[in-house]
Amino acid sequence: MDNKQRVLLIISGGIAAYKSLDLIRELNRIGIGVRCILTENASKFVTPLSLTALSKDTVYQDLFSISDENTMGHIQLSRNTDLVLVAPATANIIAKMSCGIADDLATTTLLATDKPVIIAPSMNVRMWSHASTQNNISVLLKRGIKIIGPENGEMACGEFGLGRMSNIEKIGATLNNFFKTKTTKATGKLKGRKVVVTSGPTHEAIDPIRYITNQSSGKQGFAIARALQEQGASTTLITGPTQIPDPPGIYVKHITTAEEMLQSCLDCLPADIVVCAAAVADWRMKNKYSEKIKKEGEIFSLELVENPDILATVAGMKKNRPNLVIGFAAETQNLLKNASIKLDKKGCDWILANNVSKESEVFGGDNNQIKFISKNKIEEWPVLSKEAIGEKLATRIIAFLKDNKNGKD
Ligand code: PMT
Repeated sequence: MDNKQRVLLIISGGIAAYKSLDLIRELNRIGIGVRCILTENASKFVTPLSLTALSKDTVYQDLFSISDENTMGHIQLSRNTDLVLVAPATANIIAKMSCGIADDLATTTLLATDKPVIIAPSMNVRMWSHASTQNNISVLLKRGIKIIGPENGEMACGEFGLGRMSNIEKIGATLNNFFKTKTTKATGKLKGRKVVVTSGPTHEAIDPIRYITNQSSGKQGFAIARALQEQGASTTLITGPTQIPDPPGIYVKHITTAEEMLQSCLDCLPADIVVCAAAVADWRMKNKYSEKIKKEGEIFSLELVENPDILATVAGMKKNRPNLVIGFAAETQNLLKNASIKLDKKGCDWILANNVSKESEVFGGDNNQIKFISKNKIEEWPVLSKEAIGEKLATRIIAFLKDNKNGKD
């Protein structure tokens, strides 16, 4: 094979299997080579002959076929590719993937592969929303498998809803993006740099069932970690409890309390860059209740003590201080003044100040507006998506590292 990107396309047995012919055409059009595995059920919808004609390669079908194993053994098949794409992915193959069942060539290959896997589900709306399919999908997401779709629309069975396989152009664009990102990572400007990002809220237990927290969703911190990783940085994300699945390729440490976040952060040092985007609870209980607190009287007080400050601790380190320590300031009033005070008090290099008043919808929302503050300058960034803020920060960090080998901005 030549040196273009190669995809192993596993076609499982749903009505959308007929679209695999157009999918191969589209992938070839954008310069991606395709080799196919066809499940027995999928062969009822699409013939190996047409797939061979379009992919210009053998179509593999049978785990126990002597001729298939002779041309390419199933282990070799699973490794001799840059990416495995399952499209369409039926509820059945998704369930098998989630449990690790390997009872045919497609599922054996999926179990044996060490390459990234992307799936494009396609099934009836009720099958998609069934608790068992949703549970299987969350298992796959946690494992780092990427999911494209499914989309809303009319189904072959006449029902309407979520379950249609994403269109061919969307699948092609996702794969194209995947390969572009992979190339940037290999040549990325942060290659060889170690980065730690804190994100999300912390939970501080009051008693066994209640806790103190805030409204952080983790979106901003995750977006920053992803942007830095896309530039080739070896990235660790330390996150409090959130609903966001672990991003593939990032080492994710899950913590609950501020004290755990601090310890986890210190365990990651030395690092080149630390970004503290977490909304750490400022206080915890002086003494946690070991049993559920009973209602007694109208007024009830909690005795709280201050939590350790992770940003200030890392920025104040005499030994192993990262080259660049970046914090956020979440303010509801006097944004610039309060954020500048935090920059001084916590001893970090940069502060990304954001207005978190209710109307700004920054907590939990998809967008944010940053005032970038360093010792020498203040920049006003426009309203941007949290992903775009991650990318802008990555660009800023790259420029800093280029201009100041070890110094400060
Ligand atoms: O998670 P999202 O829903 O996407 O929302 C994003 C965000 C609003 C949480 C994020 O943009 C943000 O502002 N993060 C910092 C929130 C915060 O706690 O800010 P602060 O001003 O209270 O703290 C200042 C800095 O000190 C922050 O970098 C914070 O991570 C750090 N800190 C605070 C307290 C503490 N005990 N340890 C810390 O490290």
